[in-house]
Amino acid sequence: MTSELITDIGELRTLDPTLADGAGDAAAAAVTRHDQALVVEDGLVAWIGARSDAPDADVRTSVGGRTVLPGWVDPHTHLVFAGDRSTEFVDRMAGRPYAAGGIMTTVRATRAASESDLLAGARAIVDGAAAQGTTTIEAKTGYGLDVATEERLARIAARVADVVTYLGAHVVPEGTDRDAYLDLVTGPMLDAVAPHAQFVDVFCEAGAFSPDESRRVLLAGRRAGLGLRVHGNQLGESGGVALAVELGAASVDHCNHLSDADVAALAGSSTIATLLPACDLSTRAPFAPARRLVDAGVRIALASNCNPGTSFTSSMQFQVATAVLQQHLTLEEALAAATLGSAAALGLDHGDDAVGSLRVGGPGDLQVLDAPTAAHIAYRPGMPLTVATWRRGVRVPAPVSPVRSGSGR
Ligand code: NIG
Repeated sequence: MTSELITDIGELRTLDPTLADGAGDAAAAAVTRHDQALVVEDGLVAWIGARSDAPDADVRTSVGGRTVLPGWVDPHTHLVFAGDRSTEFVDRMAGRPYAAGGIMTTVRATRAASESDLLAGARAIVDGAAAQGTTTIEAKTGYGLDVATEERLARIAARVADVVTYLGAHVVPEGTDRDAYLDLVTGPMLDAVAPHAQFVDVFCEAGAFSPDESRRVLLAGRRAGLGLRVHGNQLGESGGVALAVELGAASVDHCNHLSDADVAALAGSSTIATLLPACDLSTRAPFAPARRLVDAGVRIALASNCNPGTSFTSSMQFQVATAVLQQHLTLEEALAAATLGSAAALGLDHGDDAVGSLRVGGPGDLQVLDAPTAAHIAYRPGMPLTVATWRRGVRVPAPVSPVRSGSGR
């Protein structure tokens, strides 16, 4: 197998917790090394060290003094869908509040789309995310809401994403009896989707599912062998956080409206609070209280929540920059939340395959920033700083532009 030396690294942040002075994810993000090199081989990091000590390799790539980081881990997306909701977005910006109802707009378009179109759309989003440094990504179902479409979405998600989450309990589809739908979600739909998924999720919120209904969905998923995730406390104090902690969910996502008891419960648990800054902006919601959570000792993750309704972006850099600029995290806290914290939210933070950090023997997942330091992510918000990504040791090709030149007309 070909080995590749990536050298002339001006700033290297490995996010390797074993190199950190202190405890906690941010301490790992603070370890900064200069004039470094690393070798990737067979999909793994084979060597890391001073540029002057670098071994020979089959291929040598100079990054010219730029910054190298682990690839982002995006633990919350809904990227298998069809249709466009820009009109809903424009209306929201004109003052109409966000409610869960818009989900059905996407459900209708997704049910009508062909499998090949859904796959192509999902792949385009994953490729775009990879070009911006994302090397591990989760994808949920939830825009099918019938057995056949949910199964189709899960199969497509499994082809493009690293982790698949079953979200049949996104909303009760219009015209459907609530109890009958819960029977479906916890019965035949779960049976059809579970073989393709690793997690079950539920939108525990007014307008979607109550805590008792959510508990039923999660316990059925657990019986089918799935890990647990919860959409909670997005629109109000929904009880989603308390439920996630009670059931030992891997993650509770959104977390905009938290009581002191919610924060204390999270701090005393292993449930990750996954924050979605772009969604908060796009719904004009109060930002999730990132500073309060970190100060209380809660472990957090950042995610894009890429979906057509509330957050149509796959940029993890945008989440990191916003978390620093608007949510008062330090650069190190935000970098760690988008890598180590996100890996923990997906249960991918242990063993040889753990993602979110660079270490010898770990996955060769890294990105090059066209910047002398990682601080530029927040210092130059909105700039496309990631100029190269390696995923499992292989350089990710730049996405092909959909704009063609020379039509011949
Ligand atoms: O995470 N909160 C529920 N699900 C998505 C929104 C989906 C939609 O509006 O289409 C979210 O924001």
